[in-house]
Amino acid sequence: MAVTTPAKLDAHALRADFAYLEELVNGSPIAYLDSASSTQKPKQVLDAMREFYEHSYANIHRGVYRLAERATEGYEGARSKVAAFINAPSTREVIFTRNATEAINLVAYGWGLDNLGPGDVVIVSELEHHANLVPWQYIASRTGASVRAIPIDDLGELNLDVLDAIAREGNVKVVGVGLVSNTLGTINPVERIAAFAHAQGAILVVDAAQAAPHRAVDVQALGCDFLAFSSHKLCGPGGAGALWGKAELLEAMSPFNLGGSMIRSVALDKTTFNELPYKFEAGTQAIAEAYGFGVAIDYISEIGLPAIEAHEHELTAYALDKLAELDFIKVFGPPVERRAGIISFDVAGVHPHDVAQILDWEGIAVRAGHHCTQPLMTRLGVAATTRASFYLYSLPEEVDRLVAGLLKVKKSLG
Ligand code: ALA
Repeated sequence: MAVTTPAKLDAHALRADFAYLEELVNGSPIAYLDSASSTQKPKQVLDAMREFYEHSYANIHRGVYRLAERATEGYEGARSKVAAFINAPSTREVIFTRNATEAINLVAYGWGLDNLGPGDVVIVSELEHHANLVPWQYIASRTGASVRAIPIDDLGELNLDVLDAIAREGNVKVVGVGLVSNTLGTINPVERIAAFAHAQGAILVVDAAQAAPHRAVDVQALGCDFLAFSSHKLCGPGGAGALWGKAELLEAMSPFNLGGSMIRSVALDKTTFNELPYKFEAGTQAIAEAYGFGVAIDYISEIGLPAIEAHEHELTAYALDKLAELDFIKVFGPPVERRAGIISFDVAGVHPHDVAQILDWEGIAVRAGHHCTQPLMTRLGVAATTRASFYLYSLPEEVDRLVAGLLKVKKSLG
């Protein structure tokens, strides 16, 4: 079989698309190592959104006039791009939401409230972002179901051996896992988890917020039932995200938000609901943001997901090697082969907020905190970590600056 190596991306050249990355802070460009939080936005996306607002904006699905038709085409065109991006069988299965969190809430409320009850079990993981944990805890508490978590081992990888024991505790109805951990970068074996979930008759809800921007995601190959991700983590605007779900599940689900656009007919005593996907899109949507989400998908697709993944892999390997040379740094998480471009670490004797503050003085932006993964922090035995994360515009020089910055941190506070 021929082995193909993805074309390399030119991060230096791509940085010209991102205005802030070209600005100088104290004589150096910012080292933006916080793309797992949110990415910078290229001018292609910003220009396209401005153009859309100036020349194609009106409310969608309502007007019969030309401008409204143009706006609707822009919005629905973005839905087609999202569907193709994740290999969804149908655009009817793609719901625009505000973000991945809202997408998961939609499933938890729309599916969970009607289908969970006493004796039922929702399985999440110890790695989960609060977005794929708290909605399930809440809906479980409303329905009498219980929540169990797949534990991690000391490398931050899921211990799937416990699944059979958890399954003996009740009827497993939902399995919710992230494809990539936002804190440790662990790439989870979702296909294996899908096989387990379906053997139990459960649905699998995948949080792909940290995966879809960085590697090709194929909902059919993963074998999941629902998948959520956000625009703002893939060079798109905030306020737009997507839920993909299997049509037969979405058809059977109750609506989440109710009001305009999501109805077929309304009388004072009864309402019938619209067809997919509109049943789940109540009220005026973030129209230009959905459009910009589509443009961002074009932007990263043109660079190529395999090239983005390979670039981040190379940077992560380089950073892990460099950080391993610092005896005052403890890196959490798996080896580079099973990790995306996210590195959480502890600096001996220094609080992560102080680390991030000193790095900021050096023009290096990292995130410090619990990263919306408090159960994981408990498992790691820390209150918080410092986290560096990479994207298509990240450079090895920025890793060098991070290492130099950490040496300064040690000198000042360690
Ligand atoms: N979920 C985002 C992060 O991990 C905000 O930083």
